[in-house]
Amino acid sequence: MVDNVMNEEANRVLGRDAQRNNILAARVVAETVKTTLGPKGMDKMLVDRAGNIIVTNDGVTILDEMEIEHPAAKMVVEIAKTQEAEVGDGTTTAVMLAGKLLENGEKLLDMKIHPTIITRGYRWAADKAQEILKELAVEINSKEELMKVAETAMTGKGVEYLKEKFGEIIVDAVDIVAENKKVELEDIRIEKHKGRSIEDSELIQGIVIDKERINLEMPVRVDEARIALIEEALEVRGPEMEAKISVSTPDQLTSFLGREDAMLREKVDAIKGSGANVVFVQKGVDELVQHYLAKAGIYAVRRVAKSDMQNLAKATGGKIVSKLSEISREDLGYAKFVEERKDGEEGMTYVMGCLNPKALTILIRGGTDHVIDEVERAMRDALGDVAATLKDSKIVAGGGAVEIELSKRLKEYASSLNGRERLAVEEFASALEFIPVTLAENAGMDPIDVLTELRAAHDAGNRDYGLNLFNGSIEDNLANGIIEPLRVKTQAIASASEVAIMILRIDDVIAAKKSVGNSGKLGNMSGYD
Ligand SMILES: Nc1ncnc2c1ncn2[C@@H]1O[C@H](COP(=O)(O)OP(=O)(O)OP(=O)(O)O)[C@@H](O)[C@H]1O
Ligand SMILES: [Mg+2]
Repeated sequence: MVDNVMNEEANRVLGRDAQRNNILAARVVAETVKTTLGPKGMDKMLVDRAGNIIVTNDGVTILDEMEIEHPAAKMVVEIAKTQEAEVGDGTTTAVMLAGKLLENGEKLLDMKIHPTIITRGYRWAADKAQEILKELAVEINSKEELMKVAETAMTGKGVEYLKEKFGEIIVDAVDIVAENKKVELEDIRIEKHKGRSIEDSELIQGIVIDKERINLEMPVRVDEARIALIEEALEVRGPEMEAKISVSTPDQLTSFLGREDAMLREKVDAIKGSGANVVFVQKGVDELVQHYLAKAGIYAVRRVAKSDMQNLAKATGGKIVSKLSEISREDLGYAKFVEERKDGEEGMTYVMGCLNPKALTILIRGGTDHVIDEVERAMRDALGDVAATLKDSKIVAGGGAVEIELSKRLKEYASSLNGRERLAVEEFASALEFIPVTLAENAGMDPIDVLTELRAAHDAGNRDYGLNLFNGSIEDNLANGIIEPLRVKTQAIASASEVAIMILRIDDVIAAKKSVGNSGKLGNMSGYD
């Protein structure tokens, strides 16, 4: 008998137990984010080990922070991440669909239907769903419609009362950076500044760095800015360097200090020699250097983040210089002016009229960091949606409209099938209804009533009817402007079905024992023991 082919330390779960365990874990993930879905969804407060707090409604953020350990649950979290990377929005929807597909798949397993049949049915349904989605998509082009896409994304995300203003900021920003309808979202810089209120957030056609000039003697504004971007520290001894020097005579001390002074002067001379009148330094700047720079009428900012240095380089056409001794005029960037503007306590540096006309910053202001961070997440979702819409100009009706229509058409498709796969296609179809049902539930409405009414509307041929949660009725959401990019739905369905299929096909889990303590936050969901 070969009893022990595996390491004794490994854990093995087989057959139905493995399936049950995996499906349960994946469903727990879906259940976790479920209450955040839709405009009436609730937020979650996440506290990490260090006590940092995040308050959010964003599916992917919640799952990321939860540090889930169960392998099948992790696969579901991956969907959220893919969704985030591909579109930026719809992460909750994608995860919920996967959870529901697995829940329904389990029903079929209980009916003794083989996983191969279930997964085949799911695959057919997923392919068919993509086809139907293309038919249901509507083309849009106007700015107003794009703004509606942004507004739908932000509904229920804390910025809702400002969604018109923010919708416009987002559409304008995307419009500025778009090239042939293609948008690199990294080109849209978001800068966050604590102070004033969210209403005062704005789109600025330039680069704003949340740092003031280092020294009050420096000019507040420099016109025709020639900008040096310097990587190295403008100090002799960095704060991280601790050196011991021993001097025995006052002369030695003077000469040592003199040498230091000379080295710093050299750096300043190099900057002056290049013709720069503005410097951004990635590291620290010695007080003496500050003084010399100020005397030369140079505006300087220190400790600029590396990513901001890169943004500045891209915006102003400058080159980041790592060896100051080699700096030359060609390395400098250009902006019409650089200015410090103050609101509240701290000043910010505005780099305006950049060489690259596409340079822009969305400046988010707000009272607390938590609010600002959640505004940023809502904005990024909407930016992703608008960019996706611009790319293929296709949208679908939201509020569950597209899911109900898909469900209906998939059921019709199922009835054209003969084998047992038909049952799987039917379960796939009913999984889609989970979205409108949850939207209703989260709004305190009766999900059964809503579902019945929605089905009736769609049976009567109103394919874009969905739940309008502004007034709680079932209406034509295409006409209402509750619209989402097609891509959100195609991506969500593609990745949710892929993962569901993958998990359903697993009937043997062999897991190595962990060597360190189990820190999974899902408690005993974190392993197979
Ligand atoms: N006014 C509205 N009435 C009804 N449904 C709406 C309305 N606005 C948006 N929705 C719906 O809310 C759902 C989106 O909710 P939500 O933004 O919370 O989740 P998500 O986009 O799936 O995930 P996340 O934004 O967390 O990445 C979509 O189905 C959308 O159609
Ligand atoms: Mg969303």
